[in-house]
Amino acid sequence: MTPRVHVTGPVPARVAAELERDFALVDEARGADGILSLLSTTVDGAYLDAAGPQLRIVANYGVGVDNVDLDAAAARSIVIANTPDVLTRTTAELAVSIMLALLRRVAEGDRMLRRREAWRFSLEFMLGESLDGKTLLVVGPGRIGRETARLAEAFGARPVYAGRRDPLDELLGEADVVSLHCPLTPETHHLIDAAALARMKPTAILVNTARGPVVDEAALADALRAGTIAGAALDVFEREPAVTEELLTMENVVLTPHLGSATRRTREAMGLLAVGALRAVLLEGRRPENAVV
Ligand code: GLV
Repeated sequence: MTPRVHVTGPVPARVAAELERDFALVDEARGADGILSLLSTTVDGAYLDAAGPQLRIVANYGVGVDNVDLDAAAARSIVIANTPDVLTRTTAELAVSIMLALLRRVAEGDRMLRRREAWRFSLEFMLGESLDGKTLLVVGPGRIGRETARLAEAFGARPVYAGRRDPLDELLGEADVVSLHCPLTPETHHLIDAAALARMKPTAILVNTARGPVVDEAALADALRAGTIAGAALDVFEREPAVTEELLTMENVVLTPHLGSATRRTREAMGLLAVGALRAVLLEGRRPENAVV
């Protein structure tokens, strides 16, 4: 019998075509043998139980798996797969993009022109900061963190790293740019809170392309208002898709709507990797290379 797969949201046409080749696509999780889940779907024990005991794999369309209860999946012997590697360069590129956009006031300048304000070239006008010579603290030195550091080095940044066992508090005080690349776990929830922000230099900026809840967004708004730090570039939000209202009003804040892996090529590659995991489990009876549980 053709395995039944449920997809929790729209996927690129190329990925849908691959799914249709090998699987019967079903509208509900209930009764599915495999699920292709988007990050916006919460896959917890109740969700897995509602799908039913025939469910064998959930392939998550993303590298972060914080939307999935891994323990609940393991307890039910359900394989969980993610989409690493294919989005590393793309996500690092977005991190450096919003970092530079904030430092060089790209978005702020764009907003000013769209307001049709009078302006003229002048030597003291809208001066920014170069990444050249800056100390870049990479919080979470995994694949994306290291690639971000490598790209930023081309602009003259000097990377330092904070992993799980490094003294984050000390490193925060040395950095000009703090860029977050850790997964969201109970340990990293609100890792950047009021106390962490207070340790940063008043001239430093925060960049988040990881997960919103790694930052206490209310504390961040407070810190930006008080001048505790100089700015923030955010691609992810604590209560996504909502953005803390005050951040929307601040010129020293660059905001993008969770675009880290958002290129057609990368999104297709992620989808094909997820389809490969579904095939491995449902057609070939083997554990996929990209299994996390
Ligand atoms: C995107 O946020 C991902 O985790 O792939």
